[in-house]
Amino acid sequence: MKVAVIGCGYVGLATSVVLADLGHEIIGVEIDPDKLSKLENGRCPIYEASMQEMLSGNISAGRLSFTGECNEGCRDSGVIFLTVGTPTNETWQIDLSQLEGAIDSVAESLKSRNPDAGVPVVVIKSTVPSGTMDYLHERLSARVTGPFLMASNPEFLREGQAIYDTLYPDRIVIGADDETVFKVMDELYAGLIQQDFDPEPPRPARPDNFHHPVPVVRTKPRSAEMIKYASNAFLATKISFINEIANVCEEVGADIGDVARGIGLDTRIGSQFLRAGIGFGGSCFPKDTKALHQHAGSRGYTFTLLNAVIEVNRIQRYRFLAKIRRKLDPLSGKTLGILGLAFKPGTDDIREAPAIDLMRELKRDGARLRATDPKAIANARDLFSSCEYFDDPYEVARDADAIILVTEWPEFMDLDWNKIAGLMKGNIIFDGRNSLDRDKIEALSLRLIGVGR
Ligand SMILES: NC(=O)c1ccc[n+]([C@@H]2O[C@H](COP(=O)([O-])OP(=O)(O)OC[C@H]3O[C@@H](n4cnc5c(N)ncnc54)[C@H](O)[C@@H]3O)[C@@H](O)[C@H]2O)c1
Repeated sequence: MKVAVIGCGYVGLATSVVLADLGHEIIGVEIDPDKLSKLENGRCPIYEASMQEMLSGNISAGRLSFTGECNEGCRDSGVIFLTVGTPTNETWQIDLSQLEGAIDSVAESLKSRNPDAGVPVVVIKSTVPSGTMDYLHERLSARVTGPFLMASNPEFLREGQAIYDTLYPDRIVIGADDETVFKVMDELYAGLIQQDFDPEPPRPARPDNFHHPVPVVRTKPRSAEMIKYASNAFLATKISFINEIANVCEEVGADIGDVARGIGLDTRIGSQFLRAGIGFGGSCFPKDTKALHQHAGSRGYTFTLLNAVIEVNRIQRYRFLAKIRRKLDPLSGKTLGILGLAFKPGTDDIREAPAIDLMRELKRDGARLRATDPKAIANARDLFSSCEYFDDPYEVARDADAIILVTEWPEFMDLDWNKIAGLMKGNIIFDGRNSLDRDKIEALSLRLIGVGR
């Protein structure tokens, strides 16, 4: 099937690369000239495991190409995905301007569509409040005369595992008002639903316990849109919940690691998203929780629980910062080594990354900062230049009064702590993710301070 993907960011690229890999003919449309130039030259503008290899392979095979012209993408495509950004503004309201811009470009492009290409299905993959597809349908209807269909098909991938999650989804959600749309989407996703592809490299391996056919939730568009927000709100709630339990553990002398394990073994609860730390960041949870809260409020419903989830997450970073300030008082003139800048391991994304907030505060207190990250240094440097960045994690330990683990990259789990102890001036390791091996570290002359223990 010929498919256009408008917006080649984390979601658009994962969608493009995987659908091309399953045999579809994909044309990615991107307006950012830097990103487009990289893509046209076969270079992936973001870091995701397997993405560069699969991008190169599918470009060479002639199944994947990129353009800056929306009409090139829309001329012949049976499906047109919209995968542009949907940020929130200061009042937590969702900013639909990228989607409006994209839908207006699609409208313009459909005027010169190949008449033999059939009725296009315009699919909203961006995360949006319930009712947005209907709004975009009206906007498109007002601008085109020819027929078109629409679907809501929210995306659930996790950054850091974008290709893996796209190949092996827990479910596929399709919201539409027309039976034809479900048929088109079934055809498009047949390879994923039936898993009838070889999970050979560069594709990530299929997990042993992966069940297929992949469940498909077919519903009305407003429900599909709500499924995405509700999923992210629930996961964010789990994180804020365990962080609050961790804070209580600190007061009563309990250990959050054991408590979380004890909770998570209950199959009704599950063990995922129960690691206490400095809270969630990234491009999705912060904005999606705020957008859902604001959206509910705009309809007269006060989402009390979600407000608390957001507030707990905001405070959690400052609780951790307060610990650093207390232990190292005064911070002025102290040297701090920062391990991890990306908002989570496996990505170079620093949107709403706790590390950036933390570094800004520490710098304001007069600390000298030395930081590292396996993939996100370039992005972090663009946003925050008052720090020395090093590729070598051991360099951040040199003369450091303390080390702060902010992102739990696997690379940091295997560090030689003996060597680090030798390089440091001080002896405190702050573990913002409760990920480091306490016994190993405290067997040296180092002191580990985590969250909730
Ligand atoms: N990043 C994630 O982990 C994730 C997961 C699930 C859902 N989502 C949702 O998917 C959507 C996209 O997220 P993302 O992280 O990929 O965003 P992103 O900012 O990485 O990518 C969006 C891309 O769209 C491009 N763009 C904007 N307007 C355009 C236009 N008119 N024509 C062509 N290109 C245009 C931008 O230049 C950018 O490259 C958002 O709604 C987000 O909430 C993201």
